[in-house]
Amino acid sequence: MNSRFPKLAPSLLAADFGRVAEELARVKNSGAEILHLDIMDGHFVPNLTFGPKMIQDIRAISDLSLDVHLMIEAPERSADMYIDAGANYLTFHAEACVHSHRLIERIRARGVKAGLAIVPGTPISTVEPLLDDIDVLLVMTVNPGFGGQTLIPFCVDKIRNACSLRQERGQSFLIECDGGVNDATAGELLAAGTDILVAGSAFFASSQPEALVRIVEGVS
Ligand code: DX5
Ligand code: ZN
Repeated sequence: MNSRFPKLAPSLLAADFGRVAEELARVKNSGAEILHLDIMDGHFVPNLTFGPKMIQDIRAISDLSLDVHLMIEAPERSADMYIDAGANYLTFHAEACVHSHRLIERIRARGVKAGLAIVPGTPISTVEPLLDDIDVLLVMTVNPGFGGQTLIPFCVDKIRNACSLRQERGQSFLIECDGGVNDATAGELLAAGTDILVAGSAFFASSQPEALVRIVEGVS
């Protein structure tokens, strides 16, 4: 993967799970380099998706960078399974983990990029003490659990807030947004300072998903 940001990360949640290999080929052909993988446990969020075996099987057939987003309670219990399965980025929710700092250190010690996610109702100030230690701050731009929702406008202010904090302090974490990203919202999210834009339905519903990659990554 090249080190240039911003990047678009298609979310497999919106893909056809009966044709995963073909959907992965669509992602690859679009020029996207990061695949976003949503793990839901039916507790932290009402929905349920897939687990480590899916990550392992995708790892075996794809060289995309795997961005695993854990929407699960007690992420410290299964983080190692996702690392073993081949995650390149492992992001968990601050709201689901008391000892966030400990888990960040554990993920990084295993050579994986550590991400901390916050739901719309959690202010940036909650994770401020950890911004020096994380690789990615994932600012949810919808309430987690389902694809196809509309971006919540005040979440863009949180991204601006995170971006100015990063600049003031000379920090280097990436800012990722997740939910409601499409060709109409991408411009505002990029202007706010987002580095990784996750897009599920807008990517997989499109007959020309490479156009969305181009909008975000600015290559022609
Ligand atoms: C929602 C997930 C997202 C989801 C985004 O809880 O975390 O990654 O796939 O879907 P869209 O892009 O359709 O809003
Ligand atoms: Zn996600």
